[in-house]
Amino acid sequence: MIDSEIQKIRKPRYEINPNILNRWSPRSFSGEDLRDDDLYALFEAARWAPSSYNNQPWRFIFAKKNSKHWNLLFNLLGDFNKQWCANASVLAVIISHKTFEYNGKPSVTHQFDTGAAWENLAIQATSQGLVTHAMQGFDYDKAKKDLQIPDEYEVMAMVAIGKKAPKERLSPELQQRETPSDRKPLDEIIMEGKFGNRVKIG
Ligand SMILES: Cc1cc2nc3c(=O)[nH]c(=O)nc-3n(C[C@H](O)[C@H](O)[C@H](O)COP(=O)(O)O)c2cc1C
Repeated sequence: MIDSEIQKIRKPRYEINPNILNRWSPRSFSGEDLRDDDLYALFEAARWAPSSYNNQPWRFIFAKKNSKHWNLLFNLLGDFNKQWCANASVLAVIISHKTFEYNGKPSVTHQFDTGAAWENLAIQATSQGLVTHAMQGFDYDKAKKDLQIPDEYEVMAMVAIGKKAPKERLSPELQQRETPSDRKPLDEIIMEGKFGNRVKIG
């Protein structure tokens, strides 16, 4: 079922899996701990993403809020993201293997593959009543160094994971932005045959 809050804003042209619409990126997190099984189920969903040559380039380095690893990941964040990530239950850095394991050659699609894995994780979180928020607002070089990430991996993004809290817990400035977003119309993103050939929908 599509959440009522979502229904007001997101109006798909076709009926689709409700969890695709229900997933959005709030910033008000409750700060509660997650059960390990609930957390690991998200990575399980990521694990089943498709990838070129089934290379599975995605890796997730996570830290739970009340663990000794938390500060290492939290300190990578930019000031804007630090404001609201303080109440996330888990932070994760998503990295991607740049080469194929079977021949050591560069993979053209490793980012694409890892992107698919992240979306699996996000949709799974939605179906478990959890929320996720991806981020590029952090120090990529520091992540590589502080987390001792080998050179054959590229840092892709971070993600905050947790339980949603009322938006009133955010600063007034962030409260204004705490709403699901809309998308470009379908006929702007698909083209038939050649670039620029718009399709008439419906
Ligand atoms: C790779 C990536 C990086 C992002 N970086 C940030 C960020 O640093 N800080 C932030 O507040 N939101 C960030 N976002 C959230 C996007 O702004 C958000 O996904 C987008 O506006 C669409 O909204 P929705 O996720 O609620 O559907 C990021 C999202 C993605 C996928």
